[in-house]
Amino acid sequence: MTSNQKLINWVNEWAELCTPEKVYWCDGSEEENDRLLGEMVASGMAVKLDEKKRPGSYYFQSDPSDVARVENRTYICSAKKEDAGPTNNWADPVEMKATLKGFFKGCMKGRTMYVIPFSMGPLGSDIAHIGIELTDSPYVVVNMKVMTRMGKAVLDVLGNGEFVPCIHSVGAPLEPGQEDVKWPCAPIKDKYICHFPDTNEILSYGSGYGGNALLGKKCFALRIASNMAKRQGWLAEHMLIMGITNPQGVKKYIAAAFPSACGKTNLAMLVPTIPGWKVETVGDDIAWMKFGKDGQLYAINPEAGFFGVAPFTSMDTNPNAMLSAKANTIFTNTGLTPDGDIWWEGIGYDAPEGTITWTNEVYDKASCKPAAHPNARFSAPAFQCPCIDKDWENPTGVPIAAILFGGRRPGTVPLVYQSFDWNHGVFMGSIVGSEVTAAAIGLKAGVRRDPFAMLPFCGYNMGDYFGHWVNIGENAPDKTKLPKIFNVNWFRKSADGKFLWPGYGDNIRVLQWIFERVAGTAKADETPIGFVPQLGSINTTGLDGVEENMAELLTVNKDQWKDELDLVREQYAAFGAHLPKELASQVTAIEARFDK
Ligand code: OXD
Ligand code: MN
Repeated sequence: MTSNQKLINWVNEWAELCTPEKVYWCDGSEEENDRLLGEMVASGMAVKLDEKKRPGSYYFQSDPSDVARVENRTYICSAKKEDAGPTNNWADPVEMKATLKGFFKGCMKGRTMYVIPFSMGPLGSDIAHIGIELTDSPYVVVNMKVMTRMGKAVLDVLGNGEFVPCIHSVGAPLEPGQEDVKWPCAPIKDKYICHFPDTNEILSYGSGYGGNALLGKKCFALRIASNMAKRQGWLAEHMLIMGITNPQGVKKYIAAAFPSACGKTNLAMLVPTIPGWKVETVGDDIAWMKFGKDGQLYAINPEAGFFGVAPFTSMDTNPNAMLSAKANTIFTNTGLTPDGDIWWEGIGYDAPEGTITWTNEVYDKASCKPAAHPNARFSAPAFQCPCIDKDWENPTGVPIAAILFGGRRPGTVPLVYQSFDWNHGVFMGSIVGSEVTAAAIGLKAGVRRDPFAMLPFCGYNMGDYFGHWVNIGENAPDKTKLPKIFNVNWFRKSADGKFLWPGYGDNIRVLQWIFERVAGTAKADETPIGFVPQLGSINTTGLDGVEENMAELLTVNKDQWKDELDLVREQYAAFGAHLPKELASQVTAIEARFDK
């Protein structure tokens, strides 16, 4: 299938170490996909869903120890520890390679090694990059078919060019005659998700789930790509991309970064509640952005599908996601209904009698055990999304007019505000965070900072990453064409703990203000933290009981911000000399503006 000798040698080398029963080069055809899914149904790993209810779709249950990304087993193996920075696990690349070689030796015994050529981004796009994943998991192959452009066409574009080498094994060799389990994987202590930024390599061992195993997504498109982007002067970001069209037919694209569990997929597919406005989706998770010849920043979605969290997705909360997953979708760790469909908590109707849980028991609502794991997922092709943007596969990308940051902040942070300039916007990105309660995830209560929503995904020193953002602004071909930067907070609460803003489809009202700020028409007050909407400048027509909340939603409280800035100083201290001076000076500038 290829004459790329470097690629052939590399596959042979790994096959020699991993000793699979056979090596299979994926062509990416429908026939191949159907065959692999059929084999997994036959082996008991997959269930084919009812063809009328959920055409072309399959159901999987993972091992209970393998249900999510494992951040404490994820490593950045740069030559120097300092280059991984204070927010990443670091391991020495030579030592880690030696450890991993031990694990990979003979790890594919009794299994097939699949060779998956894949492109992150439209094939042949200037912004796209090619990877090759070796894996012993057919589940990974069929997911990569949904989530990336994969197969023979990628090898044709690759020719003798460079690729990002990605090696994955579930870490469960089979002895002769040994029966396979439904979801093979290694124990948590033996899972390793390792990135080698100096050589662009990814080695993942022991997990078959999501971002640990579909190496194009978080490992390549964020951790390795963030390194490539820094070296080459572009941006690899954990951002959705959406197009917004106003009633006059003017369209603008925005990119937005939010930590997990802030409704990113919902925002990307928002159904506006105000007449005449339209939202279209380019991507729901990752944006690669580069300046075009016209000086504008252009973004592509490097993925081809949505790997969405299933629970609480419904026809009410996100009809476009539900419709994207109507067919040709892979469901993992949801519930399974007796009539061959899926079910999860918050889907909008009761579980049919006899529903099976993700742990393969009969669902009993009274037992308090959920039918779906909280991180149950659907892998759905993006082209099936009813609101997919016509330019979502445009190889030049879409021009980005605004960048949004946000988190879950019950206090302090207004519904929306705009930065004074690029570096002030970089500061806003650097202090993104969500408030956590101690009970919820076993962390110290308070604001969990997640700068640029990249905390688990930045493949190098986060302080240098802030510096890279500063440089992007500094070196922009035309500074007047840089996207405007905003922070939003849908989650502000009143003193008695009630949400002040309705959220969901009504977020279009905040997007309208942002759209009109970019156009230069919406009114704002200058405050010490940035431009905040003037009272009355956010469209609340038709909203019940929100107008009286607007003053509180837009409040900038000096004492709360002084506390916030103290916390930011603490956060910044961890970066030492890697913190750009342009960010340190933002803290003192805001304080000075408050004291004026
Ligand atoms: C994701 C995440 O799964 O950000 O997309 O955790
Ligand atoms: Mn994500």
